Parts: sequence; structure tokens; C-alpha cells
Amino acid sequence: MVGMTTLAIIGAGSGLGAATARRFAKEGFSVALIARNRQRVDALAAELAAEGVTAQGFTANVRDRASLIAALDEATTALGPIEVLQYSPLPQKEFLRPVLETTPDDALAAIEFSVLGPIAAVHHVLQGMRVLGRGTVLFVNGGTAVRPRSDFAGTTISFAGQSAYGQALHEQLAPENVHVGQLIIPGGIEQGHAEKDPTVLAEKLWGIHSGRDGFRTFAADMDA
Ligand SMILES: NC(=O)c1ccc[n+]([C@@H]2O[C@H](COP(=O)([O-])OP(=O)(O)OC[C@H]3O[C@@H](n4cnc5c(N)ncnc54)[C@H](OP(=O)(O)O)[C@@H]3O)[C@@H](O)[C@H]2O)c1
Repeated sequence: MVGMTTLAIIGAGSGLGAATARRFAKEGFSVALIARNRQRVDALAAELAAEGVTAQGFTANVRDRASLIAALDEATTALGPIEVLQYSPLPQKEFLRPVLETTPDDALAAIEFSVLGPIAAVHHVLQGMRVLGRGTVLFVNGGTAVRPRSDFAGTTISFAGQSAYGQALHEQLAPENVHVGQLIIPGGIEQGHAEKDPTVLAEKLWGIHSGRDGFRTFAADMDA
């Protein structure tokens, strides 16, 4: 067996986070579950461990870059080098507000969440991926990353930045065998949905990682 490497999920909850953890664990990955709430990440890690997954919880707030970097360091020490980084924290409700009510401070919060957090995380894990000789960065976004919505101003503005950052990274890192991909989930994650159930989405994320194809993948039709 190839040495154990780690999937780090930034924004790991009981929905998509848990499903992706299970999918990558089947392929031999250890899983670092990163979110703000200690009890929730520990409970999720225990639930996964009971299924045979090597998982551990770490706490960070993506809007606090120092905490994010510390969590990534702890994860690497505890579980092994990070080969796959998934950035998928669920955006705060305040980011889903009308554009004319959005102040610079509101926009800044969304940009901290969706642009500065990813840049900090990628900068921090990239050298480790280079040492491994391979890596994958997975961004997960809603449809506003593709099509602006005037009533979801925070995510509209900041997902555009994250998409542009990801696309630029994709081009820059492909020659180094670091694949950068984005999964767009139009509408919402829906249990039992043929395309948008967390298990189906996790399979898509595995496919993006293993297929190492283009930058953007749609989980479902934008107009469906
Ligand atoms: N849910 C949907 O309907 C939907 C629709 C379209 C796209 N998406 C995308 O799907 C992903 C989320 O999937 P999910 O809804 O199934 O979520 P999930 O994996 O069940 O949980 C996401 C986790 O993000 C964590 N989080 C939120 N704010 C954070 C912060 N500031 N710092 C660190 N962690 C934070 C939360 O934990 P703590 O509270 O403990 O921090 C939460 O448990 C996101 O990329 C989102 O853009 C979701």
C-alpha cells in the first residue's frame, strides 16, 4: 500500500463533509475534519471511526487565518501529509442578502470566508503537495459562483473571486501534478436527490480528484 495520505476537509459537517470523508476513506485516505465547533467535529470523527475510517476533528474558523493554518498543521502532524484539500464551509446566512443592502463590511466578511480563507489554506498546503509529487484542491460552490444573484450578494461577490482564484491556480499547478477543481451544486444539497444527494456529490468529488480533468464540474444542470 502507498503511504497513507490525508484528505483535509475545511468546513466538515454531517452533510457533504461526512459523505466525502467516507468516499475518500474507501480509497485509503485518512480524513481531517475541520470546522469551528469542537464537539461536532469530534462527534463526526467518532461516528466515522466506528465505521473504520481514520478520522480526526480539528477546529478553525476560516475567517481567522491563523486558526486555519494551525488546524492544517495539526492535521498533518496527526494524520500524515495532506494530498487532497477540500474547501467547503457552508456560507453564513448573512452572505445571502440583497445587493443594495450589502455594505463594504458585509462584502469583506464574505471575501474573508470565500477568498482569503482558500488562499491562506492553499498557500499553506502547497509545499507539502510538491514534496509528495501530487495533490488536489477541491472547491465546492453553489450556483452563484457561475450566475450572480442580486439577493445573494455576499456569495455572489465572493464566489466569483474564489472561482477566478481556482481557475488561475488550475492553470498554474497542472504541470506540477496538483489538480485544482471546482464542483458547482446548483440549488441546494438534497438528501435522496439523484444528482444532489451528498453521497452522489462525494462520488463527483472523487471523480474530479481521480480524473484530473478540467477546472469546473456541474453537479446538476443550472436551469433544472
Ligand atoms: N447546503 C446546501 O444546500 C448547499 C447548496 C449549494 C452549495 N453548497 C456547498 O456545499 C458545501 C457545504 O456542504 P453542506 O451544506 O453539506 O455542509 P456540511 O459538510 O454538512 O457542513 C459544513 C460545515 O461548515 C462549517 N463551517 C461553517 N462556517 C465555518 C467557518 N467560518 N469556519 C470553519 N467551518 C465553518 C460548519 O461547521 P461549524 O459550524 O462547526 O463551523 C458546517 O458543519 C459548501 O461548499 C457550500 O458552498 C451547499
